[in-house]
Amino acid sequence: MLRDLDNKKSQFEDFLKAYLSDHDNRSGLYRACVYSLASPGKRIRPIILMLSCESVGGQPEDTLHAGLAIEMIHTFSLIHDDLPAIDNDNMRRGMPTCHNKFGEATAILAGDSLIFLAIEAIAVAGYTPDIKLDLLGAIGDMCGMGGLVLGEYEDIMAEGKDVTLNDVENIYLKKTSRLFELAAYAGARIAGASDRDMFSLRYYGRELGLAFQTIDDILDITSTEDALGKAVGRDVLKKKATMVRVLGMDAARKWAKERTNRAIDSISYMTSPAAETLRELAKKLLGRIS
Ligand code: FPP
Ligand code: MG
Repeated sequence: MLRDLDNKKSQFEDFLKAYLSDHDNRSGLYRACVYSLASPGKRIRPIILMLSCESVGGQPEDTLHAGLAIEMIHTFSLIHDDLPAIDNDNMRRGMPTCHNKFGEATAILAGDSLIFLAIEAIAVAGYTPDIKLDLLGAIGDMCGMGGLVLGEYEDIMAEGKDVTLNDVENIYLKKTSRLFELAAYAGARIAGASDRDMFSLRYYGRELGLAFQTIDDILDITSTEDALGKAVGRDVLKKKATMVRVLGMDAARKWAKERTNRAIDSISYMTSPAAETLRELAKKLLGRIS
């Protein structure tokens, strides 16, 4: 099952490379997009997309354009999150952040460009018009005011303020879970999943996202810059709204475990090898803090 995760990652990265070389041009702006997109990410979201599709009988290769679109959106969010006006971080994935390498103006525009490249990746895919429309609608809903960007705004506004568990959960749901849910949704939609499977896979994505963000925030305290490829210890410094801050370290670990179990349980009735790999993925992510 763990080999399946590696294979899916390679399959996505081969596609990414081929797609980018097809679209190659000499603009410095495009180079900045490719720099961040091709940097060594875990590719969790495209992997979820492939597995979600396969778990309900679809072909994982059919999801590659949608996976690329989601990875482009994820990359845009990281580039902008690292900017001086937001988290002001200089390292990401073990490399200088986009603005650190290319300058702030180029990084802003590279992030902007990735949103439109994502739309284009869906538009040129071989999906039916109905599927394209549903995917684009879901991107608009889950990445804008219904999710990612609003979540990031709320995360910034909460800095230095007193927050409750409920506040933090709501921020996590938007800034992290919605993109995981989008990946699970898109895989299920491309495969033509039943209502029950669609609901379960979306729930899996949502709960996994909550666990993932909690784990990320725990690692910000317990891990090292070398291991994570990005600066650590920043959340405490900026008094960020995190589960560790509202629950304490031990209870935050427990919370991440509970959310991981909810993700696993939501698809426990699915018997395909791909569903088993989705459950393995959830355990593997939790393993980062145990
Ligand atoms: C790391 O993903 C990403 C997160 C922990 C999500 C945090 C959310 C944001 C930064 C929201 C930003 C939003 C905007 C609109 C600026 P990962 O560990 O999968 O990273 P990887 O792809 O490098 O492996
Ligand atoms: Mg950040």
